[in-house]
Amino acid sequence: MASGRNTKGESQASSIWGGRFEAGPSQIMEEINASIDFDRRLYRQDIAASKAHCEMLVRQGIIAPEDGDAILGGLDQVLSEIENGDFEFKATLEDIHMNVEGRLAELIGEAAGRLHTARSRNDQVATDFKLWVRDTIDQLDGGLRSFQSALITAAEAHAATIMPGYTHLQTAQPVTVGHHLLAYVEMAGRDRSRFGDCRARLNENPLGSGALAGTSLPIDRQATSEALGFDRPAANSLDAVSDRDFAIEFLAAAAITATHLSRLAEEMVIWASEPFRIITLSDAFSTGSSMLPQKRNPDAAELVRAKTGRIFGTLMGLLTVMKGLPLAYSKDMQEDKQPVFETADALNLCLAAMTGMIADLRVDEDRMRVAAAAGGSNAVDVADWLVKNLDMPFREAHHATGNLVKLAEKKSCPLEDLELADFHSIEPGITDDIYSVLGLEESVASRVSYGGTAPANVAGACAEARRRFLDGGG
Ligand code: ARG
Repeated sequence: MASGRNTKGESQASSIWGGRFEAGPSQIMEEINASIDFDRRLYRQDIAASKAHCEMLVRQGIIAPEDGDAILGGLDQVLSEIENGDFEFKATLEDIHMNVEGRLAELIGEAAGRLHTARSRNDQVATDFKLWVRDTIDQLDGGLRSFQSALITAAEAHAATIMPGYTHLQTAQPVTVGHHLLAYVEMAGRDRSRFGDCRARLNENPLGSGALAGTSLPIDRQATSEALGFDRPAANSLDAVSDRDFAIEFLAAAAITATHLSRLAEEMVIWASEPFRIITLSDAFSTGSSMLPQKRNPDAAELVRAKTGRIFGTLMGLLTVMKGLPLAYSKDMQEDKQPVFETADALNLCLAAMTGMIADLRVDEDRMRVAAAAGGSNAVDVADWLVKNLDMPFREAHHATGNLVKLAEKKSCPLEDLELADFHSIEPGITDDIYSVLGLEESVASRVSYGGTAPANVAGACAEARRRFLDGGG
């Protein structure tokens, strides 16, 4: 059917907006126009907003209380039909708003037609979508909190476990596993606060903005704002119906969170790889290979890493949808929901996967110690000793230590195995006290500056993190 003409409904103009139309939409028009396949996810918010609107209309004397009661009862009926899977979603009714209203009309008849008084789908969809994003932020906050809780619990168990710390993925200095895990607790804390900022900024009510200009009917926007938990009505009707900053901000916050999860996922992949093998991922979060029987693949971590790419894509996608739109509403904005749904689902799953991986994490303490001691990771301890004991400027101490590293390399031994005479050949002032700073335990234990890696710090930081992020709970 090249023309895409809707043979079954040539004269079936939409009963909801079709007053001025003689013919129904072509099938292709119907297909490109319908959003019900995805925006049905807004049903709970749509019904809640409709109920708040209806109650306000009654209180303002705009519709009769009997009609209001019929509408409220009908909406409850629609809600339970949807939740029980008894609702028939229809593409001909385009979207969730008209599907709900269409069914309401079947249930209660004429009174249903009064619900849309002083309202447009434009303020309706903005309201529903904000409510959905707000609920989702609350849910993600719980997920991030659980992730933090798993990290803190693991950090407590490994407050003194020594691992190699890297810069440029080259062994740099020994650190504690707990310290490393707590770094992600901080990131997740910022993520929660970013989502919280987004939530606070979005919490202005678009309902009552009408199609774009407001309404001549005596509505009470304060009342619907309070009923729906908004802080206040949005101040400008044109802005309220065409603003999708909240969705973009949500996706931006999600992209940053995903970046954090992806970095941890990448570390898991590296640490679990054969040359490192300083951690083992649990069976629950690993897979086997169909050909290579020995394989134990970190698929969950890899997929978290990959989903990050898709999450970034949704942010770019929505920014691009919005960037050329004149005020106020354009149908382009219907394309705002899928990216947000996709990202919310992906991020929830990634958070659950990373939380599970951290809860199950097994570290190989012996291999970690070997890796932590390799590569002259105590060189800076020598330089610090020279600064503290010989009052040497750090630059000079760095240079002298570089010579010692070179000497140790020539002798194919670690710094701690150099003879005192070797140390003297570079710097005669060195005493055998130097050996007291060359061990791994001594190295990490000495890093007591605020925010440093010493086990005593980490134990304190875990307690502090519990207080800051988990309110003393777990
Ligand atoms: N389904 C639409 C959306 O998601 C609802 C708003 C439609 N408004 C309109 N004027 N056609 O954007």
